[in-house]
Amino acid sequence: MPVTSIDAYLEKNVFLLPQTDQLRAMHTIVRSRECSREDFVFYTERIIRLLVEAGLDLLPFEPHDVATPVGATYRGLRCAARLVGVPIIRAGESMEAGLRAVVRGARIGKILIQRDDATKLPRLYYSNLPQDIASRHVLLLDPMLATGGTANAAIQVLLDQGVLEENIVFVTFITVAEGIEAVCSRFPRVRIVTSAIEERLNSNAYMVPGIGDFGDRFFGTDRR
Ligand code: URA
Repeated sequence: MPVTSIDAYLEKNVFLLPQTDQLRAMHTIVRSRECSREDFVFYTERIIRLLVEAGLDLLPFEPHDVATPVGATYRGLRCAARLVGVPIIRAGESMEAGLRAVVRGARIGKILIQRDDATKLPRLYYSNLPQDIASRHVLLLDPMLATGGTANAAIQVLLDQGVLEENIVFVTFITVAEGIEAVCSRFPRVRIVTSAIEERLNSNAYMVPGIGDFGDRFFGTDRR
């Protein structure tokens, strides 16, 4: 699918982490083919925490006052959403610890989608979601948003369970225009949080410059 510009989606559907020197330096470490698995896990987990925090920023908040120790009132806020994190197996499970680190007692659902060998289309193999998911906001977790096929299939699973489209935040480590276009044109109320937007997809549907196979590098199943 040729994609010309994703400018219209930025800040409306797509929230890119501030491209600070610190973030770029962490990306530099994990994108290197020489990066050890220990460094890959350590630095991707640091970035994943930033992504989860940015995802939480998109949830609704309501006024909440508290009394301070000096007897004054702090006119504050509290999160008005009930949340569930849903990693897409397997690579999305790399983001589960980051979610648990910032959301105490986080509920976690699971979805397994893989490409069907015969049809070449994404197929749902397994899902286990909280019964009350329709009344929750969902952080859908998958580090790679490349063609958008898996993401769209996972979003459809959530919608079929009654989740509102506007209550879904797709948290992804890196993405590319093709993936953004695929998700945002089909589900314009879903929001995407990412730490980088890549130049293009190659003929194997890997992002370029990219990071290689995220799941293999994170879980140590690459053949190096
Ligand atoms: N999956 C990956 O792990 N990497 C890509 O670049 C694309 C899909």
